[in-house]
Amino acid sequence: MKHKHLLTLDDYSRADIEELFKVATELKINLQQGKDIDTLRKKTLAMIFEKPSARTRTSFEVGMVHLGGHSIFVQQAEIGMNNRESISDLAKNYSRFVDGVVIRAKKHSDIVEFSENSSIPVINGLSDSHHPCQGLADVFTILEKKKSLDLKVAYIGDYNNVSRSLANVCHKMGIELVISSPKKYLDFDSEGLSLGREEDPIAAVKDADVIYTDVWASMGQEDELEKRKKEFSEYAVNDKLIQSAKKDVLFMHCLPARRGEEVTDSVMDGSHSVVFDQAENRMHVQKAVLVKLMGN
Ligand code: CP
Ligand code: NVA
Repeated sequence: MKHKHLLTLDDYSRADIEELFKVATELKINLQQGKDIDTLRKKTLAMIFEKPSARTRTSFEVGMVHLGGHSIFVQQAEIGMNNRESISDLAKNYSRFVDGVVIRAKKHSDIVEFSENSSIPVINGLSDSHHPCQGLADVFTILEKKKSLDLKVAYIGDYNNVSRSLANVCHKMGIELVISSPKKYLDFDSEGLSLGREEDPIAAVKDADVIYTDVWASMGQEDELEKRKKEFSEYAVNDKLIQSAKKDVLFMHCLPARRGEEVTDSVMDGSHSVVFDQAENRMHVQKAVLVKLMGN
């Protein structure tokens, strides 16, 4: 794998993704066996966050400890990226201090600008348009559970940062993906990714091996929440939807979930749900990304 950054999955091939999954599996097994892997000994990772996070921040921080390195959490309120100081000046400063940077930003273009001025690897920890670490962990989890690529994934809800990255990995791995949303939300640019569009959620989940959903209003879209709650009300993942898919369908959600909106409690806590295994895999897959981008 010859990448400097992980900004989107656009330039990651199937071979790159498979290589990351192989390393993630090894790291997961090593951790379960209590083996120390100090691949990133004395390496440092800055994590610049402009939006809240539970999973991304914590899984990267713990991952760095497992790999023998150290991480520094930096909030936008403290550094004022793009107001107290330009993005390019910050990128040049961080390039002198640390060995890698994770950025969670409101604008994807800010992460790109940072990377263009950085001599160290930059990892996208979520932007308005992409969530590559999530997409990798999602498909890693699907393969771990289903042990096959001959699968259908039905994504029920808003085509957003999470589903765009999921679509990218599914496309590369040859997994069928269908997006189901109200008609006006189906009119998005798939940017060359192979995916199906289906307005009827029941039809979308027919023969599905995986049902995936995410919030209807992402961070930054809070003012649209009430409108979207009405528009997406028929797209909640509930028991009826689960029963309309294959018997052994998996339920997935990147989390945080707004229980009672895009998913019911009974589905979140039910026997089909793998959401916490999926969350755990964020850490294993991100450790593989760190090793590949920051290891010697
Ligand atoms: N799925 C995810 O990225 O969670 P956080 O926003 O809590 O990091
Ligand atoms: N689409 C959600 C994902 C959160 C992990 C958001 O951007 O808020």
